[in-house]
Amino acid sequence: MPDERRLVEDLRFEELGRVAEIEATVFPEPLDLASLERLYRDPSVRYLAIREEGRLAAYFGFQVSGPTALVISNATDPAYRRRGYGGRILQEAEAIAEAMGARWFLGEVRVSNEPQRQVLRRIGWREIGRCQSFFGNGEDAYIVFRCFREGTWP
Ligand SMILES: CC(C)(COP(=O)(O)OP(=O)(O)OC[C@H]1O[C@@H](n2cnc3c(N)ncnc32)[C@H](O)[C@@H]1OP(=O)(O)O)[C@@H](O)C(=O)NCCC(=O)NCCS
Repeated sequence: MPDERRLVEDLRFEELGRVAEIEATVFPEPLDLASLERLYRDPSVRYLAIREEGRLAAYFGFQVSGPTALVISNATDPAYRRRGYGGRILQEAEAIAEAMGARWFLGEVRVSNEPQRQVLRRIGWREIGRCQSFFGNGEDAYIVFRCFREGTWP
């Protein structure tokens, strides 16, 4: 039976060091601690967390500009993968971003990032375009989109 409890909470400022460590482990172009602290203090930015026994298991940062909540990054600590946290944090974030005025999420995913693409597909995100050489190593990006209250498509 799916767990109906709310798992997602705000990330604490003191947890940014752990976020920087995870970023450095999992991303080719990680955000460093100073950049994370700058973003965290920006009122248009929100960082969310899922914890297991008090330890940071997954995080998600996004920045709201008008109706768009732009994905900064999300990751699950490799020790806590495939427990549903990656999908869960993005899903619970929709109501939080909506309360900040956003109507949809927009992001970019490396074309090689099959785990993230599968997670997004499962929770109703769409790949709406492909941008050539988006990333620093020349890799293409899929532009990904999730409308919180999706209407009927033509
Ligand atoms: C993508 C990521 C956030 C998923 O986190 P997660 O907590 O494991 O996600 P979930 O448990 O909700 O879903 C995992 C799903 O990913 C997919 N997946 C996981 N490993 C995979 C692999 N090696 N190949 C293909 N798909 C895979 C599966 O669909 C899996 O679902 P399942 O466990 O039911 O089979 C995590 O892998 C991660 O942190 N990756 C590095 C950072 C990143 O790429 N972030 C996204 C770009 S900003």
